[in-house]
Amino acid sequence: MFSNGVVPGLTHIVEALTEEGDGVVIQSPVYPPFHELVTGLKRELLDAPLRQVDGRYEMDFDALDTQMRKAKLFLLCSPHNPVGRVWTESELKQVVELARRHDVILVADEIHADLTYPSQRHTALNRLDDNVITVSAPSKAFNIAGLFASYIICPDGAMRKRITQVQNKHHVLPTPFANTAIIAAYTDSRAERWLDQLTAELEEQATYLVNRFNEELPQLKTFLPEASYLLWIDFAALDLEPEARKKWLHEEVRLFLSPGGPFGESGQTFERINFGTSRAVLDEAFKRLTEHADGKAFV
Ligand SMILES: Cc1ncc(COP(=O)(O)O)c(C=O)c1O
Repeated sequence: MFSNGVVPGLTHIVEALTEEGDGVVIQSPVYPPFHELVTGLKRELLDAPLRQVDGRYEMDFDALDTQMRKAKLFLLCSPHNPVGRVWTESELKQVVELARRHDVILVADEIHADLTYPSQRHTALNRLDDNVITVSAPSKAFNIAGLFASYIICPDGAMRKRITQVQNKHHVLPTPFANTAIIAAYTDSRAERWLDQLTAELEEQATYLVNRFNEELPQLKTFLPEASYLLWIDFAALDLEPEARKKWLHEEVRLFLSPGGPFGESGQTFERINFGTSRAVLDEAFKRLTEHADGKAFV
């Protein structure tokens, strides 16, 4: 089904398949609209926060089990924004297993999947379970968010009907530009070649940036992404409250990053950088950060 954006798609699915007060599970830190759409629709937000294990984020299956018991639906971010994980098949099988056990509807936002790095392998959740609802778009991979072109894959006819009713209520209509872009993105061999170059370049850029942090600014902790163009950086060692950190970054460093707070409680000490830019811009940003961090006290 067509949808005019992944966030509207997720919102319409939650509106169609759950009632006010029903539980919806998310795994923080996660893309802020996941929090906002659930609370905005007056559903209960059930968080099963990710865990940091040996410098990388993992799912907390005990927390997921506890929250899924009370939930109607689970919003999975795969690959995950902001932590950059490409979930393994074994991790996703455990998610499917828990969802079956607790009769929870699985909804996977796979908008970053096309940007999975060459060294990694993305597993589409609907390969592991026929009832999964997938929401995605070519907008990240091909940088066409302005076209509002996305889609929902929902194999269950009854659910599809309910989602369509909500979409109709909200006047969701495809545009010829959006449809043409979706078809071109997924069928034109030039798009495929371009994407192959892009993912290789993004992996190189991610490795470069994380190495620089490790060598030149080890006080700031980073997590090597496995997909996409986002790096999640822990500024905890700087010992600045989020507002003071923002002021420092904007007014002294002259760097505008995405503050981590809206991604969930554990994101308070974090900033997210978008490294989908030229090496020159990135080097300049890194130079500003190291120069200004130099005079700072780290805890
Ligand atoms: C996980 C995730 N879902 C959805 C979106 C946005 O999708 P759309 O612009 O189609 O609503 C983003 C963009 O940052 C994202 O990271």
